[in-house]
Amino acid sequence: MRILILGSGAREHAIAWKISAEIGRDNVFIAPGNGGTELCGTNVDIGYMQFDDLKNYCLANDIDTVLPGSEEAIAAGVRDFFENSTDGKHIYVFSPDKHAGQLESSKAFAKEFMQKENIPTAAYQAFTKESVDEGYAFLESLESPYVLKADGLAAGKGVLILNDLEEAKTELKSMLVDEKFGNASKQVVIEEFLDGIEFSVFALTDGEKYVLLPEAKDYKRIGEGDVGLNTGGMGAVSPVPFYTEELKRKTISQIVEPTIKGLGKQGLKFRGIVFFGLIVVNNDPFVIEYNVRMGDPETEVVIPRLDESLSQLIEDAKNGTLLSKTAKAKSGYATTVFAVSGGYPEAYEKGKEISIGIDSETLFHAGTKRMDTSLVTNGGRVLAATCFGDSMRSALDASYASIKGVNFDKKHYRADIGKDLEKYV
Ligand code: AMP
Ligand code: GLY
Repeated sequence: MRILILGSGAREHAIAWKISAEIGRDNVFIAPGNGGTELCGTNVDIGYMQFDDLKNYCLANDIDTVLPGSEEAIAAGVRDFFENSTDGKHIYVFSPDKHAGQLESSKAFAKEFMQKENIPTAAYQAFTKESVDEGYAFLESLESPYVLKADGLAAGKGVLILNDLEEAKTELKSMLVDEKFGNASKQVVIEEFLDGIEFSVFALTDGEKYVLLPEAKDYKRIGEGDVGLNTGGMGAVSPVPFYTEELKRKTISQIVEPTIKGLGKQGLKFRGIVFFGLIVVNNDPFVIEYNVRMGDPETEVVIPRLDESLSQLIEDAKNGTLLSKTAKAKSGYATTVFAVSGGYPEAYEKGKEISIGIDSETLFHAGTKRMDTSLVTNGGRVLAATCFGDSMRSALDASYASIKGVNFDKKHYRADIGKDLEKYV
């Protein structure tokens, strides 16, 4: 295999790190990559949305497999682009096509899919500008809080949870009529509020068979105690201590299997990763959302725990030899803690020199780049320190020691990753 990974985050670094250990760094390419991915392969100076240039690079370098890291390229049809080209159709893009990618890129599409397959999820209805009055009536039939979701991709900002009915109506109007999120809010899903604890499950699939990867819990908010603005993710823990055998059985039989079967039944061209964003209510799992790629920062704990060859699983999916199973996972815990630029997720400065005290193989880079001999910050989320431990506490202690050894001007991190899980371990 010679693989091109699309993206520049810690997720892509973790994937490149794993695959590079399996097939050698000469066979791994990352477009555009970052200051860490270049240790695991060749950084390619092409944006991950430049499909023509990416294809030409693949052809010139005998690359046979493309793995999109984020949803953006998938939603823009990267797989369709390669499949529909005359000279690039032999290149295996390990992702759903654009249509199937709507499981992530359209909330209404995903809800309809789940409804057809009887998959537990919050009750909902979808509305457009023409049906805004019905939307108000639907809101009146629900209890507070009200959950409003822009149908399309809105960079994590498209979901509003509001306590007040009048405010919910105003926001619904602003989304539908005033297109608050542009095209993304031409349709809005309103759904029942579910009160519970969230975590994520991942299945690698060829569209028929699936391999269950380790599960994880991420921390999205900037502030300790899960307050403040949403970020790309401040940390993650795997395994999830409240994911009991019983909950796992329910998740597989009520959610994972019906989803994989549903892909075939509904004729979706799906391969790659199904990311199940789940919420547990009274010990029952419900789907909050699907994503069609690995999560970030979940990948930074899921992939290091994966005790199987990731490149082999992708080869198996390609060759039709994938067997359904739960992937072997390293025992104990993996935790990751992000060092971010001060000010993030609002305005922050770049170009700060980074010094790394404790060098760890699993210090995954996100917003970093090399300038001559130094490493400098190049984004909001800078580095993710993944560490292992026999217990969650010992893994976290190691992640925090590592993150304290990383220094750059205005470094910030959340000190409470995993704290809410202590009562379950
Ligand atoms: P989504 O983009 O659909 O994952 O929604 C973003 C976040 O909003 C989720 O991670 C949840 O924390 C929250 N959320 C979404 N839908 C619901 C719901 N029906 N009930 C409660 N919280 C929700
Ligand atoms: N961690 C959530 C995501 O990747 O969307």
